[in-house]
Amino acid sequence: MKSRRPANSARTGAVVPPRWRKEVERILITETQIARRIELMSRDIARDFSGRETVVVSLLNGTVMFLADLIRNLSLPLRLDFIGVSSYGTGTESGELVFTKELRLDVKGRDVLLVDDILDTGKTLYRVLGKIRALKPRRIKTCVLLEKKARRLEEVKADYIGFEIPDFFVVGYGLDFAERYRNLPFVGVLFPHVYKAASQQITAQRPRKTRRARK
Ligand code: PRP
Repeated sequence: MKSRRPANSARTGAVVPPRWRKEVERILITETQIARRIELMSRDIARDFSGRETVVVSLLNGTVMFLADLIRNLSLPLRLDFIGVSSYGTGTESGELVFTKELRLDVKGRDVLLVDDILDTGKTLYRVLGKIRALKPRRIKTCVLLEKKARRLEEVKADYIGFEIPDFFVVGYGLDFAERYRNLPFVGVLFPHVYKAASQQITAQRPRKTRRARK
């Protein structure tokens, strides 16, 4: 596998653990595949940043697992900061982006690596990139674990991509649906009945924060 290119998330054949079988239809990317891919991505990033001190800016909350695994593989001097950004919607529609935490480190003149879990419509990365560019970093590169091209609305590209995935509703390894499933160690596909039922409940009880539907 060429490390520069995103890996393909073909059928893994991995078995969904019994605890999750009612909700998770199948495993799209296994723990082992994620770990191997992150090793390759980290090598590319370290090479490109050539030992310069880097400010890693990670988007809350979905990056929690990816970030932890990525930076422990990154042999670069780095400082870490977070931006809190979330979409508030009804469960089936994209909502407005709301910033819940601002950057604290000064990135002016610095090398920045922006980390997100998934690049979907591109709205999040587009907005955040605009915000960081206005702070005049020396350069900024973007790194995402997953990329889904099917629903792109903004012209935005990531420099480092873990896996390109089809338009499935994915959860796990930090990604949620209505704040659930972030703790799955793999990326899995949710059964439609799970998110459809939950979306209806959430719509009935509006307003509630939920994960934007990815399908
Ligand atoms: C998710 C995800 C990305 C964003 C991608 O965040 O973590 O940041 O959506 O979608 P986009 O490309 O369509 O903008 P969400 O708002 O659900 O918050 P979370 O990180 O707390 O899950």
